[in-house]
Amino acid sequence: MTRRDFLVRTGFAVAGLLAADSPSLRALAGSAMGAASLAPMESWDAVRDQFPLSRDFIHMSCFFLASHPTPVRAAIERHRRGLDDNPMGYWLDQNEPLEAAVLRAAAEYMGVTPTDIALTDSTTMGLALLYGGLRLRPDQEVLTTVHDHYSTEESLRLRAARTGASIRQIPLYRRLASVSRDEIVETLVQAVRPQTRIVAVTWVHSSTGLKLPIREMAAALANVNAGRAEGDRAEGEALARLWCSECHTTEATSGGSDVAPAWRSITADSLKNQAYLREFLNNPHPAMRHIPLSPRQIEDLVAYILSLGFE
Ligand code: HEC
Ligand SMILES: Cc1ncc(COP(=O)(O)O)c(C=O)c1O
Repeated sequence: MTRRDFLVRTGFAVAGLLAADSPSLRALAGSAMGAASLAPMESWDAVRDQFPLSRDFIHMSCFFLASHPTPVRAAIERHRRGLDDNPMGYWLDQNEPLEAAVLRAAAEYMGVTPTDIALTDSTTMGLALLYGGLRLRPDQEVLTTVHDHYSTEESLRLRAARTGASIRQIPLYRRLASVSRDEIVETLVQAVRPQTRIVAVTWVHSSTGLKLPIREMAAALANVNAGRAEGDRAEGEALARLWCSECHTTEATSGGSDVAPAWRSITADSLKNQAYLREFLNNPHPAMRHIPLSPRQIEDLVAYILSLGFE
């Protein structure tokens, strides 16, 4: 579905819904909206005629959600009248079906199902919800770029502060004038490290208008991911089960077996952080029979033990 189809069809969906569901508003819907959304938009003049903008200027203020095209102005007028007439009744009648229509149209446009979509008040709110919910370990990093918006940077910074994870910012290209899809995809793939858990990028950079080749980037990352264990966690967990579980349990707190502390009672102590555990495991503890651990195994075990603290 194209952007234009999306906008036009959303108009139809809303008009259709009103006409069907709400007898009191049938007249309004028919008059204010139907005709406008049918207007052909085949030429630039036809598109321009939708906007009552002064022709004395070249308007480059597109960040403002104004002026509105004719169907949107008509809808605003219709909703205003409906709310003036019967505020609560109009709200109860309209809110759910209209929201459902928006979700359906957006889902069709993006090729997903309506329940995949969250409607947020702003981009900042959407980013905060998404990035604020990331599950990250202290040994993991978010890979992001120097081209991203303050909202992205702040959400990631706060998440890193809470989880102990780190953030790495890279440029995706050398010069805007010579940037190519290949350069971006190549640069990104090269920058991924074993500890990279999240790649955080913005599709359209508002500072330059550059649109990232998101599909190609995702495909390249899928390749990188194919060779990696989910969450890098499975290995540490498998080792712990094999070599440590006869003494250490994964139960909630209390000592587990009589001798060894349960993992969660270790992670409950904030002094027993990554550095401490690393150091501890570099020397076999007295009660534990000597199992030589490689540096990689120590990293995996530490990551696993710490991950239990966040459950
Ligand atoms: C034979 C039993 C036994 C086995 C097997 C064992 N441990 Fe322990 N572990 C203990 C005991 C007992 C303690 C508490 C006394 C101590 O600190 O030595 C302990 C303590 C620890 C601590 C806590 C250190 C602290 O100061 O809080 C860590 C971390 C730890 N073990 C990790 C491991 C790992 C990882 C493995 C598997 C590779 C493992 N242990 C296998 C018995 C064992
Ligand atoms: C790339 C990008 N991210 C986030 C935002 C923040 O958007 P909002 O004002 O909707 O929170 C903007 C706004 O310009 C943006 O361009």
